[in-house]
Amino acid sequence: METVVSGIRPTGNLHLGNYFGALRNFIKMQDQNRCFFFVADLHSLTTHPKPNDLSGNVRQILSEYIASGLDPEKVTLFIQSDVPEVSEMYVLLNMLAYVGELERTVSFKDKVRKQQNNVNAGLLTYPVLMAVDILIHRPNKVPVGKDQEQHLEMTRIYARRFNNLYGVKFFPEPDAYNFGDDLIKIPGLDGSGKMGKSENNGIFLIDDEQTITKKVMRAVTDSGPTAPNSEMPEVIRNLFALLKAVSSPDTVQHFTDKYNSCQIRYGDLKKQLAEDICKITLPIRKQIIDIRENTEYLHKIAKLGAEKARESAGKTLCEMKKIIGFHQF
Ligand code: TYM
Repeated sequence: METVVSGIRPTGNLHLGNYFGALRNFIKMQDQNRCFFFVADLHSLTTHPKPNDLSGNVRQILSEYIASGLDPEKVTLFIQSDVPEVSEMYVLLNMLAYVGELERTVSFKDKVRKQQNNVNAGLLTYPVLMAVDILIHRPNKVPVGKDQEQHLEMTRIYARRFNNLYGVKFFPEPDAYNFGDDLIKIPGLDGSGKMGKSENNGIFLIDDEQTITKKVMRAVTDSGPTAPNSEMPEVIRNLFALLKAVSSPDTVQHFTDKYNSCQIRYGDLKKQLAEDICKITLPIRKQIIDIRENTEYLHKIAKLGAEKARESAGKTLCEMKKIIGFHQF
C-alpha cells in the first residue's frame, strides 16, 4: 500500500482545474492507498485573507472535497493548521532551504510580478511549507496538476539534502502523480493560460447550469479554420483540452473531424461542452450545498482528520528530531 499526500489552498471555490488536476485523482486513489488530503489554510495566508473569508473558504473546500466523493472514513481528511507539527517541521526544514534557489522558483517570481506590494517571506518559503506538508507523512505519490511540478522537484531536493546531511535514508523522494497519465493543465475560458481561482476564467463546481452555459458560450474562439487539417491556434486547442477532460472520446473525435474538414461550428461544440460539464458538476453542486450547512458534521470530520494526521505527522517529526540531534544530551 502506497502513501499519498496532497492539498488545495482555500482561496475561493474549486474550479475544473482543481477537480481534474487534483481532486479527481484523490478520489480514484482513496480505495487502494493510505491517503492524506488537506485544506492548505496556512498557505492561503500569503494573500492576507480577512478572518471571515478564511473560515468560509475552509468550510467551502472541506465541503467540496466530501461532495466530490472523498470518503472521510477511507482517507485522512484534515485542515493543515490543525496539525501544529507542520509548523514545527517548517522551522527545521527552512534551515535546509537556500534563499537563492527559493528566489528562482517560478511561482515566487510570478508573485513578485503580480503582487509587488506584498512580497512577504511566506511567499519565498512557500515551497518549504509545501515540502513539509508532503514529507511529514513520508509518501510515495503526490497527485497534483502540472503547475506544481517544480514544487515537487524542490520537495525531492529537500528530502535528499536532509538524508545526505545526516547520512540517513529517512525521507522518500515522492513523485508528482496524475492517474495513468502526464500531469495536466486545464486551460481557462479566456483562451490563454491555466484556469485559476483569481483569473476570472474558471468554471466552478458550485456554478449552476445557467452560469456554466453562459460562461462556456462566451469562451474565446476564432473565425474557424480556412484550410483542411490546419494546426489549431492556442484558443481552440484550449477548448479541445476542456472537451477532452469532460466529454467522451467519441465526442472529441467528432469535433476534431469537423475541425479538420473545416465544418466546425463552435456554437455546437460549446453547447456539447457545457452539457458535459454540467453532467459532472451538477450532482456535486447539490451535495456541496447540503454538506456546507452541516456545521456539526464538518467539525466532526475535521476533528477526526486532525487526530489521524497528527499521529502520522508526530511520528515523523519525533524521528526527524532524533536524527537532527535533539533530545540526545
Ligand atoms: P492550488 O490550491 O493552487 O491548486 C490545488 C490543486 O489543483 C491543481 N490545479 C490545476 N490542475 C490543472 N489545471 C489547472 N488549471 C489547475 N489549477 C490548479 C494544482 O496543481 C493543485 O494540485 N501549493 C498548492 C497547495 C498545496 C499542496 C501541498 C499540494 C499546499 N501543500 C502539498 C500538494 C501537496 C497550491 O497552491 O495548489
